[in-house]
Amino acid sequence: MSRRSAARRRSGGRRPACAAKPASSPLRGGSPDPPRAARPARGAASLHRAARPVLVVGVTGASGAAYAVRLVECAVRTGRRVHLIVTAAGRLVMADETAAHFRGDALDLASLWPHDVAACVTYTPAEQLAAPPASGSFDAQAAVIIPCSMNTLAALAHGLAGNLVQRAGQVALKEGRPLVVVPREMPLTRIDLANMARLADAGAAVMPAMPGFYHRPRSVADLVDFVVAKALDRLGIAHGLAVGWPGAGKNASRRA
Ligand SMILES: Cc1cc2nc3c(=O)[nH]c(=O)nc-3n(C[C@H](O)[C@H](O)[C@H](O)COP(=O)(O)O)c2cc1C
Repeated sequence: MSRRSAARRRSGGRRPACAAKPASSPLRGGSPDPPRAARPARGAASLHRAARPVLVVGVTGASGAAYAVRLVECAVRTGRRVHLIVTAAGRLVMADETAAHFRGDALDLASLWPHDVAACVTYTPAEQLAAPPASGSFDAQAAVIIPCSMNTLAALAHGLAGNLVQRAGQVALKEGRPLVVVPREMPLTRIDLANMARLADAGAAVMPAMPGFYHRPRSVADLVDFVVAKALDRLGIAHGLAVGWPGAGKNASRRA
């Protein structure tokens, strides 16, 4: 038996989801949206090229770890590989808010995703500052920090890179790659607001986790999908999440 077929047997015969062609990977029935990316982040055009298939996903100690779990799944199911980095505070919050199982700083990927998704995820704790995403030569297409704490936001806004999440964000900025940050805090201080403005000036897309309600969410998962879809749109990653505005007057009949 070849090594490849042995590996496929171990995974229950399923190909890793990132090996699937993006166009054939709708997330929720129907075809995936065409690459909507109304206003792609700087350099987002390159996201559609196969040359740079790795998306760096940073998770910090803000509430909303579910956004990261869903975004990773969506990115993988549209053909990307993900390098996932989680800070120490991120691990605390993630363990609290999701099914994530950590042993020390190691994450059991199977606690969050089925095998075909987990097979496309590389995980590194943020303390490992010397891991590949710390380098500009790491073959990443973009970085997204979701959720982003005010602590990490402040560090990025001031050019600090004390852990691998911060460094990966800094690398995206200096290399001119798309950087999306999804802050979550309430209320925001003037310091937070100034840091967001600084980061936006430096080229990042600052997208606070503010779900809309015009898609008529029926569950928390629908609200999560709204925020994830917006982040994916900004990254130029086509997805099949049903979060669009149905148009004036259509809502009344939609739920009938
Ligand atoms: C349960 C819990 C929830 C938290 N929620 C938030 C939050 O929503 N937003 C935020 O900015 N900080 C939040 N914090 C505080 C951050 O975790 C803290 O500032 C931490 O130093 C962030 O570190 P990091 O940026 O390296 O992940 C929370 C902390 C805990 C323990």
